[in-house]
Amino acid sequence: MHPPGDLPSARRVPIFVPIILFYHCVICAQTARMADVFNRLGVFVALLLLALVSLVLGMDRPGWLIVALACAPFIALGVADLAQRHSSVRRNFPIVGHIRTLFYRLRPYLRAYIVEDDLHGTPFSFDARNLVYARADGGEGVQPFGTERDVDSSHYSWINHSISPCADPDQSPRVLVGNSQSSQPYSASLLNISAMSFGALSANAVRALNLGAKIGGFFHDTGEGGISSYHLEHGGDLVWELGSGYFGARDADGRFDPAAFADKASADVVKMTEIKLSQGAKPGQGGLLPGAKVTPEIAAIRGIPVGVDCHSPRGHSAFSTPIELLEFAARMRELSGGKPVGIKLCIGQPHEPFAIAKAMLETGIRLDYIVVDGGEGGTGAAPMEMSDWVGMPLSEGLVLMRNALVGAGLKDDVRLAASGKVYSGIGLARAMAQGADWCNAARAFMFSIGCIQAQRCHVGNCPTGVTAQGEARQRGLVPEVQGPRVAEFHRRTLSALADITAAAGFAHPTSLEPHHLMHRTGPERAVSMDRIHTFLPANVLVEAPRSTIYADWWAAARADSFRPATDLARQRASTSPPAGADIHRQPERA
Ligand SMILES: Cc1cc2nc3c(=O)[nH]c(=O)nc-3n(C[C@H](O)[C@H](O)[C@H](O)COP(=O)(O)O)c2cc1C
Ligand code: SF4
Repeated sequence: MHPPGDLPSARRVPIFVPIILFYHCVICAQTARMADVFNRLGVFVALLLLALVSLVLGMDRPGWLIVALACAPFIALGVADLAQRHSSVRRNFPIVGHIRTLFYRLRPYLRAYIVEDDLHGTPFSFDARNLVYARADGGEGVQPFGTERDVDSSHYSWINHSISPCADPDQSPRVLVGNSQSSQPYSASLLNISAMSFGALSANAVRALNLGAKIGGFFHDTGEGGISSYHLEHGGDLVWELGSGYFGARDADGRFDPAAFADKASADVVKMTEIKLSQGAKPGQGGLLPGAKVTPEIAAIRGIPVGVDCHSPRGHSAFSTPIELLEFAARMRELSGGKPVGIKLCIGQPHEPFAIAKAMLETGIRLDYIVVDGGEGGTGAAPMEMSDWVGMPLSEGLVLMRNALVGAGLKDDVRLAASGKVYSGIGLARAMAQGADWCNAARAFMFSIGCIQAQRCHVGNCPTGVTAQGEARQRGLVPEVQGPRVAEFHRRTLSALADITAAAGFAHPTSLEPHHLMHRTGPERAVSMDRIHTFLPANVLVEAPRSTIYADWWAAARADSFRPATDLARQRASTSPPAGADIHRQPERA
């Protein structure tokens, strides 16, 4: 027994243990806190100390004052970082936080110039850009020692050549656009400059592209921003595009103005007109040009007041049904003096192309052409979700539109064009084998005038002057130098297409068929494109729609509305796959 209060030593120890532990924890916590403080503020504090020591030493030896002076801007930066509330990284890590920001900003360049391999850069690989630069420079785009591509990968595709190649392929193939309802058909090149507005592009870029179109004999689409004086300086053929803002042909309320349209569309240099329904990079998006950007020049071109915000609605005010769309197109054709009229769209809901086809059958009005833009298409600026996840990619959209036209017996009247990452002979050949009569390219032509894919188009400081609006940056882009490069890129790309066509045994690329295109679907399997997608025979949608995989979509399509006529959810729930499971995927064959 122990007297009360006289605790045995074994019981006294536990009292000290927590005390020791407590102090240990405090010391550790302090040390950890110190370490954290050191991590966060070390550079800032070190610079402060260095500046102070230098100041003291500088009293005797003035040379040290230079060190103090050199520290001053960094210390000021640190103080500013600590005081600001916007960036948590810079608030917690003054000065050092900027290094992260620097690398974050440099990341695209480091990736593009150091990390990325030749084949996998996005949106366009180094190889793709290099090919355009080489062709624009007058080179052939040749490659020594064989392909670098993995021909066993499931992305690989190729064209089937023939034992009997064509000796004399057409080097400058053209396609006549304009059916019997158009009195001024236009002979188009198979590769043309896709829609890009002045405003999205700089004045010098528009000049250079138009000069190239003039030299090379192909067309230049104005984009929805209207016809600017820069589009007219060199006299290259124009396609005038009208978006939902009707720029250049609108009244004070932003509605279509027939007189203004007729006045400009009748100009000799305007060869065709185009209704833009959507573009792949941002389908279903309207646009806003902020008042600050509406300079007197832009205001005059677009027909809008200076300095006032300018909205392009999501949809057109001139029509709201397929039939009204065709009536509007017919009116544009008439107002332009009988020039071909077309539409441009990125395909979305699959019944809609069929609705347009039904409207053509019902009204007898024929569009002269339809441009299908792939979801992979480019833009000056678009919300990321729209660019990445909305809109059908080119191959699927093109085949769907081709099937709507062929299946409805309309293909002889309506030409089909394709755009979406076309930059080479093989890109043209692929699109044509899947039903396109010609292709448009936007970004490839931007490369040909010097674009380096810096992807700063939306911030106005494009390093090459292609999209910059300031004169200082545009100075670098000399239209008289870049224009001939545009033409050279065009000529050599068509020459590459001619080589591919000849290898497949044909004189003209319109002879290319889906079965000439092969696509690898796995390491041991490759199938021709007509076994991947369905390609309908002529008139089948009119004569026996239920026999096709599009039966549901065709039944849902109506000429008097873009909304489906039937309850597609119920209809498709009762249709057993694979017949209606995909848009146009072939049922698997043994
Ligand atoms: C800078 C820029 C501006 C564009 N402006 C328009 C436009 O005004 N109207 C339009 O229909 N498409 C516009 N587009 C889309 C292109 O015309 C084209 O459909 C799309 O970029 C796909 O072609 P690409 O892959 O060859 O670039 C623009 C594209 C770019 C890159
Ligand atoms: S160089 Fe960069 S900023 Fe300029 S047009 Fe090309 S991608 Fe846009």
